[in-house]
Amino acid sequence: MKKILSLALVLVLSLTMVVGCGKKEVAYTVEDGVLTMATNAYFPPYEYYDGTEIVGIDIEIAQAVADKLGLELKIEDMEFDSIIIAVQRGKADVGLAGMTVTEDRLKSVSFSESYATGIQVVIVKEGSGIESLEDLEGKKIGVQLATTGDIYATDEFGSDYVHQYNKGNDAVLALVQGKVDAVIIDNEPAKNFVTANEGLTILPTEYAVEDYAAAINKDNTELLEKFNEALKALIEDGTVQKIIDKYIPAE
Ligand code: ARG
Repeated sequence: MKKILSLALVLVLSLTMVVGCGKKEVAYTVEDGVLTMATNAYFPPYEYYDGTEIVGIDIEIAQAVADKLGLELKIEDMEFDSIIIAVQRGKADVGLAGMTVTEDRLKSVSFSESYATGIQVVIVKEGSGIESLEDLEGKKIGVQLATTGDIYATDEFGSDYVHQYNKGNDAVLALVQGKVDAVIIDNEPAKNFVTANEGLTILPTEYAVEDYAAAINKDNTELLEKFNEALKALIEDGTVQKIIDKYIPAE
């Protein structure tokens, strides 16, 4: 009888241990005292290189949030399609990359409050004859891999017509070189790319309107709450708008 009892005790104890381990404690940040941000820094004015330094709207917003939380900001530049994986695997705390909130991404990560709006637009060569979305039928379309532009274009025109590039710049370069007929990308980077490259123009049609937010690990509710609290305060006191206005001059 005694034996059975102690056996039961061992069983209960080990069960608690298993359950206890199963509910893995999620650290508030990957590295103590540091907010590690994953991004893809080829997306002006949200994130881009100024010499060797990464600057932009997302960087300044992340810095302002980090300051509020008493954390140091560390930026990790990577391919766009690695950002969500980095957040999921606990390699980064937040993904901030002009990233659109989508149903599909919500299956993998949580999103913070939205801090900006993005619009998918179409860049073509001046005088290309492409004037509307209908004209894109059967044309070669350049996109940045795994972005919403890629997802929409592939859905609508079929993967045979969609050319994926690792960076937005590379898609635009392909357009300049005549390797693709159009590029679908977010409006603010589009404006930057058109200014930087002669002979390009943006179609007046808006392809899709989207919300940008920070991606955070699903299990890290503490960070999500704290990030949101800080972000909301920065939206309310006008800091976020000030940062956006600094990089996007009023037309
Ligand atoms: N808004 C688009 C998306 O979420 C494109 C974002 C690309 N961002 C970047 N930093 N390259 O899919």
